[in-house]
Amino acid sequence: MPNSNDTILIFDTTLRDGEQSPGCSMNLEEKLQVAAQLETLGVDIIEAGFAIASQGDFEAVSEVARQCKSATVASLARAATADIDRAWEAVRHAVRPRIHTFIATSPLHMRVKLNKSPDEVLEAIGRTVAHARNLCPDVEWSAEDATRTEPDFLARAIETAIAAGARTINLPDTVGYATPETYGAMFRDMINRVPNADQAVFSTHCHNDLGLAVANTLAAVMSGARQVESTINGIGERAGNAAVEEIAMALKVRHDVMPVRTNIVSTEITRASRLVSGITGFQVQPNKAIVGANAFAHESGIHQDGMLKDSSTYEIMTPESVGVSTSNLVMGKHSGRAAFRSKLEELGYSLGDNAFQDAFVRFKALADAKKAVFDEDIVALVDDEVLRGHDRIQVKEVEIHCGTGPARAILTLEIDGEEKTAATRGSGPVDALFAAIRQLVPHEKGSLERYEVHAVTGGTDAQAEVSVLLSEDGRTTRGRGAHHDTLVASARAYVNALNKLMVKRGRAPVDAAAG
Ligand code: KIV
Ligand code: ZN
Repeated sequence: MPNSNDTILIFDTTLRDGEQSPGCSMNLEEKLQVAAQLETLGVDIIEAGFAIASQGDFEAVSEVARQCKSATVASLARAATADIDRAWEAVRHAVRPRIHTFIATSPLHMRVKLNKSPDEVLEAIGRTVAHARNLCPDVEWSAEDATRTEPDFLARAIETAIAAGARTINLPDTVGYATPETYGAMFRDMINRVPNADQAVFSTHCHNDLGLAVANTLAAVMSGARQVESTINGIGERAGNAAVEEIAMALKVRHDVMPVRTNIVSTEITRASRLVSGITGFQVQPNKAIVGANAFAHESGIHQDGMLKDSSTYEIMTPESVGVSTSNLVMGKHSGRAAFRSKLEELGYSLGDNAFQDAFVRFKALADAKKAVFDEDIVALVDDEVLRGHDRIQVKEVEIHCGTGPARAILTLEIDGEEKTAATRGSGPVDALFAAIRQLVPHEKGSLERYEVHAVTGGTDAQAEVSVLLSEDGRTTRGRGAHHDTLVASARAYVNALNKLMVKRGRAPVDAAAG
């Protein structure tokens, strides 16, 4: 049974395992924004990327390392000297740097992927962890595919890593195969049988293929793990990683049965969730625990009646405890700067002066176009406008002529500071508009996989939020755009995805990079 004074370290891998997932890439500026919010949220360790994956990844890890004031900053590295050296180069400026190195330990991965015998893998662990430890005092070692590894071999591998200097031992459920019982038992077993286990912190890392990532994580905590790896909104490879907000709130709300604490500032959760979904274009499903739009909504009459009498009838935590505002102040064209600033704060945004000014100008334009501006409108507007400020390609002007005949689009984009215009035709307005984008930014190998529109609120004057999925050479990116004109929102979404595609293009596929 854990001790109530125990602190569970939160290791956030939104910028590495999360960002590595299909359609989910962030540019440098976006990564820095997320890292800043992760520090405010109180995560203990930020895995900022995989430094050797590309020059862009290296720069992002280095900049996050320079920016973070209190959190440990880690870079991932395979069990190879060049990877570890690159990781160290990237994190060495951090107040608290960490090298996170991994190698697969399951029979399947060792044979098929690494083509190494178990003894060769043990040798590589000892050698590469020792190399990392010579560079950096804080080294984490992960046994990729730990949950499908022979227990005897896993115990030897862990002992070797600790003897070589690793101070955190991470046992990932790489393929999301574990159940709470088996995952918890693995931690108990390893902590009991590895002779030098007391010299390391054991860590969880769960993928959600069976929807068990958070349950597995909590089971491991109950079995002695004292670090958990997770991502905001649970983003990550395939079905994603364990969601940090769910773990933090489960530990807080059910402290009676899981008596441990974390350093998470729970009132910052919603802000972090919105930031990550705004930047990545990954919308949070409405019924998602803690951060979904319906997480605190009560529709049935019986529930509403109970809530009016005493909110604890149907609420196990308050919306305020995770940073959700419950005020329904509607904004309009007479709302001034002060009201807009206080609304932004209430919604969890803290914008710098320039970003605030941009958002205010857009808010005024929206309030002119639409009678009432709701919270959802402001969230869509801020996510769309402010988070796109550093994109290389920006939408300047959109003009569309359409009706019963072919449609025509005249589009002006600003590309690396230079304005360019194209006039194109298409079978409909979206077709014509996207043809103009393709003409101005040729990307013959890219294809549009999905185009979706939804209204942010009710009413015919509602803002449209458009999301698109683009793919090119096996890389996918998502783009999002919002505007009261659906076609402007469409152009913004497509251009947003293109900007992200450019970030991904520089990234060479890395062999044996784990999920
Ligand atoms: O899922 C996994 O095994 C990983 C490791 C590299 C930590 O992401
Ligand atoms: Zn992973």
